[in-house]
Amino acid sequence: MALLVSSWSNSVKSVPKDYVMPPERRAEDFLTVCKEIPVINLQNARSEIVKQVLKACQEFGVFQVINHGVSARMMEDTMALYDEFFNLPVEDKLGVYSETPRRGCTLYTSGLEYAKEEVHYWKDTLKHPCHPIEEHSPSWPNKPTRYKEQVGRYAVEVRKMGFRILDLIAEGLGLREGYFNEVSQEHTMAINRYPPCPDPSLAMGIASHNDPNLITFLQQDHYGLQIHKDGKWMGVDPIPNAFVVNLGYQLHVISNGKLKSVEHRGLLNSTTSRTSIVTFLGPNPERPTFIEPAKELITSTNPQMYKSYWYNEFIANYLALAYSRMPGSRVRAILDHYRL
Ligand code: OGA
Ligand code: NI
Repeated sequence: MALLVSSWSNSVKSVPKDYVMPPERRAEDFLTVCKEIPVINLQNARSEIVKQVLKACQEFGVFQVINHGVSARMMEDTMALYDEFFNLPVEDKLGVYSETPRRGCTLYTSGLEYAKEEVHYWKDTLKHPCHPIEEHSPSWPNKPTRYKEQVGRYAVEVRKMGFRILDLIAEGLGLREGYFNEVSQEHTMAINRYPPCPDPSLAMGIASHNDPNLITFLQQDHYGLQIHKDGKWMGVDPIPNAFVVNLGYQLHVISNGKLKSVEHRGLLNSTTSRTSIVTFLGPNPERPTFIEPAKELITSTNPQMYKSYWYNEFIANYLALAYSRMPGSRVRAILDHYRL
């Protein structure tokens, strides 16, 4: 438990040695917030938002949504709940703490394998499955006492928004409604807490990566998220009550490369704790799910770009690559494995 960054970071004046990243894994540009990353108002006419969503998925692999149906009150209350959670005394969090993430509810620190890392990330994460709620909520934290009720309602609303956005993407690609239902059954939340860091230029919050799942919805309270595009890192504007939507590898493959999965990372700051509430939708890795480019998208001029595979096999490969350090080339590295 002493390992949690949030339990010791306010008592240090400099970055401990085992949190100092080698220079090639540090951030250089903290400032460039990219105003070109599309912000899509989901209350606009459907034909218009289908076009905007598709364009954003093709060009950026990331966009933000506003007026998305999850109420501002719900988002604010949930963010406040997580502030309380991370500020609880250590004893209240022991029940869910683990040195490495488990499949169920886990509070862990840094990356996926603390004990094997040479350098650690300045981050604590609470992670748990969400769907079906009745099955998983018994494992969720008991404190704050409203946790299960509040997060249960949040999960239902975000899931609804998620399926709606997946249907906009399906329509944009010319696929039938509900096309992505089967590959988005697994619903997991990860809440990342990045305490203030005495020197954000030396440490890192979350390493650059692409999400392995289908699609991800992120709520953030402060700046810190960056995406990699055209050889440059660009900051994502922390718009209040917006969700950042980013595409995972599975949408990249199922769309036969028409849509892009985006490489991203999380930076630190020296003044405030930053929290991101992240919702992942994707195939259930415990059930055999076959992934392949949509047949409807393959034509003589658009031949199949990726082999079909079992999702759990993909995840095993992803995890094997996840901590090999190849900045900027990770997307190619794993997708090359499946390219035809
Ligand atoms: C993630 C992630 C970024 C952030 O949890 O997969 O990319 O800003 N988080 O916390
Ligand atoms: Ni991510």
